[in-house]
Amino acid sequence: MSDDLRTELQAAIDTRRTFAIISHPDAGKTTLTEKVLLYGGAIHEAGAVKSRRSQRHATSDWMAMEQQRGISITSTVLQFLYDGHHINLLDTPGHQDFGEDTYRTLTAADNAVMLEDAAKGLEPQTRKLFEVCRMRSLPIFTFINKMDRPSRDPLELLDEIEQELGLATYPVTWPIGSGDRFTGVYDRRQEKIHLFKRTAHGTKTAEDTVFELGDPRLAEVIDPELYHQLKDEIEILNELGTEFDLEAIHSGQLTPVFFGSAMTNFGVQLFLDAFVEYSLKPYPRHSTRHDIDPTYPEFTGFVFKLQANMDPKHRDRVAFVRVCSGKFEKDMTVQHARTGKTVRLSRPQKLFAQGRESLDTAYPGDVIGLNNPGMFAIGDTIYNGKKLEYEGIPCFSPEIFAYLRNVNPSKFKQFRKGVAELREEGAVQIMYSVDESKRDPILAAVGQLQFEVVQFRLETEYGVETRLELLPFTVARWVQGGWEALEEAGRIFNTAAVKDSWDRPVLLFRNEWNVGQVQVDHPKLALSNIAPVVS
Ligand code: G4P
Repeated sequence: MSDDLRTELQAAIDTRRTFAIISHPDAGKTTLTEKVLLYGGAIHEAGAVKSRRSQRHATSDWMAMEQQRGISITSTVLQFLYDGHHINLLDTPGHQDFGEDTYRTLTAADNAVMLEDAAKGLEPQTRKLFEVCRMRSLPIFTFINKMDRPSRDPLELLDEIEQELGLATYPVTWPIGSGDRFTGVYDRRQEKIHLFKRTAHGTKTAEDTVFELGDPRLAEVIDPELYHQLKDEIEILNELGTEFDLEAIHSGQLTPVFFGSAMTNFGVQLFLDAFVEYSLKPYPRHSTRHDIDPTYPEFTGFVFKLQANMDPKHRDRVAFVRVCSGKFEKDMTVQHARTGKTVRLSRPQKLFAQGRESLDTAYPGDVIGLNNPGMFAIGDTIYNGKKLEYEGIPCFSPEIFAYLRNVNPSKFKQFRKGVAELREEGAVQIMYSVDESKRDPILAAVGQLQFEVVQFRLETEYGVETRLELLPFTVARWVQGGWEALEEAGRIFNTAAVKDSWDRPVLLFRNEWNVGQVQVDHPKLALSNIAPVVS
């Protein structure tokens, strides 16, 4: 590799940080995203729409559905500059029924930000997404939001994270009061107090008023009781709290915690400053060859998401590719690992619909959007140099299941095509009964809305009318060891055996209790809530 390219790559990697936000709906993800962008000014907004508030113009039928329902289904990649760093924020759909999309996006992120509502603490969607981060040992940064509203006791919030997630906490900032009495935060890095000033919806970067701890003027601005309490709490944290340990943060064992109010833009800058310092830059990724370092000079990457109809004038699908190594250049040719074909990546600028900037180069940690004429599937690797494939992307256990019936038999071909394409795109998982007489596909999803999107798109994009027949299951488990293992287990009660799109056995259960029961009755049967990776 030329020294110039090496230097260029290293400089790009050192200044890149890629992350996704995990949270429960309503915790403030959209608000925090907007505020984070205020500090950098987005330089790229790849993909669809950023937030509900900016979704004024429907740009496709599908988006029209989002608009009608006031939900966000599509997702975006935002790149902005902060303090000399290129930050990639992989935004994810807001609605919890699209959790599966978020799981996949997390495979492309190097860090995660866990956002909590201070009045609520951990919520179900956050717990689920946390499990995915844990599987990948992602560094997790916690932002406890809405401190301008009455909150739960901060020590109790930390305790909940430690006890329930088994994740040690290190508060980097500490709140002074909450709700009407929210006065600011103490920054343990600089040992300074940042006072909170109420601003209307924080449309500008917030002005901080900063004091040293012990500054006599503080007695006039902080309620004496709160000030006293703060000093006690700092002492407790310093003496009894977990010590700061950057390695433990990088391995996902310790989460730095920040308190703030995204709406009023308070605490966001302190968070960003610490984030660029403590977060991981792009690191080596597992592949069939060996771990590929981001400085490997050949371009490599993988598809983690497909999205349809982002441009109403074209029915193309866009493949979101995470760059893992080397330098991406417009018009370059690459190998497509699954099919062995050579592809020219000629129109990356199409991704930036609505007059956005075109994309000429990208580096490890960045995400590029490629027009996908049906060639890319989720998990596909593209590469130059020696052949390699990155680890596939796992499927997660769906929670609702239904037979999908084609109402009009003359539309059989379109039905089959639509179902296959929506499956490839990852819009829904598809399973089939093991009973050959039941040919209709079984849709398997995380939420009802996912079914609605599939039906809506089959109708609008493929002209196929469908009917759903719900099945009484809520849990799926993949049988490890395949059909042989299932046969060996003999007759299993209270479950239905189906096969997934790769012909692997899956058991469907009515509830978790039934799963437990089957495990007791068949101790040798190994079940997994995550599908084996297809490579
Ligand atoms: P989400 O993407 O995680 O679903 O949450 P979103 O940002 O849409 O925020 C959900 C609601 O919480 C919004 O109120 C938002 O204004 C509010 N919110 C977010 N951060 C804070 C905060 O720090 N403090 C307070 N007090 N509220 C916050 P909404 O009424 O649904 O919308 P809007 O009318 O304010 O836009």
